[in-house]
Amino acid sequence: MKRLVAPSVLAADFLKLGEETDMLNRSDADWLHIDVMDGVFVPNISFGFPVMKAIGARAEKPLDVHLMIVDPDRYISAFAEAGAEVITVHYEACTHLHRTVQAIKAAGAKAGVSLNPHTPVAVLEDILADLDLVLVMSVNPGFGGQKFIEKTYEKIARLRQMITAEKSSALIEVDGGVNAKNAGRLYASGADVLVAGNAVFAAADPEAEIRAIKGA
Ligand code: DX5
Ligand code: ZN
Repeated sequence: MKRLVAPSVLAADFLKLGEETDMLNRSDADWLHIDVMDGVFVPNISFGFPVMKAIGARAEKPLDVHLMIVDPDRYISAFAEAGAEVITVHYEACTHLHRTVQAIKAAGAKAGVSLNPHTPVAVLEDILADLDLVLVMSVNPGFGGQKFIEKTYEKIARLRQMITAEKSSALIEVDGGVNAKNAGRLYASGADVLVAGNAVFAAADPEAEIRAIKGA
């Protein structure tokens, strides 16, 4: 298993996005997590292509794009063209998930599927072998700075067993309320990638916080 960290730019200072991106370039961060919200799938609106493209032009690391939007099929090629290396859609937003996953791959990106806290990992059994990543939400999507849901540990462990059984190469990513205190147990439960927003950007020393999460 890997121990990757993907800071969520949603928690960055938007007036200093260039400096924040430079900080992530210098840091031990592996990916930049980009949260796209449409105000329909989740009760919040974040940012779209112009902001993502500006970050991508400055970033020296892969953009890990988390689409919290309805009908994501409409935008897959646009996100791939805008520089997304990983495109993650929500299970709950896709009626024909298999088709959506194939479209992400055809666009040249890695395909991820995210599960809301109430959605059991078992629903992915028949598509797991096709996925590059499963994003387990450890808060209800829509906002940064929420409290981590403890049930997540056992979901990760169950998902890890399923991935082994299906001989899938999917990475497990965890998103929401992650910090240096719970990171160790999350990696130990089977997570490969931890997303952290507020823990990183509200820290006095964000680069040290990224190192602390990675080394937890
Ligand atoms: C929540 C987003 C998260 C969020 C994480 O809907 O998907 O990526 O930015 O923020 P923290 O780490 O502050 O919970
Ligand atoms: Zn996210």
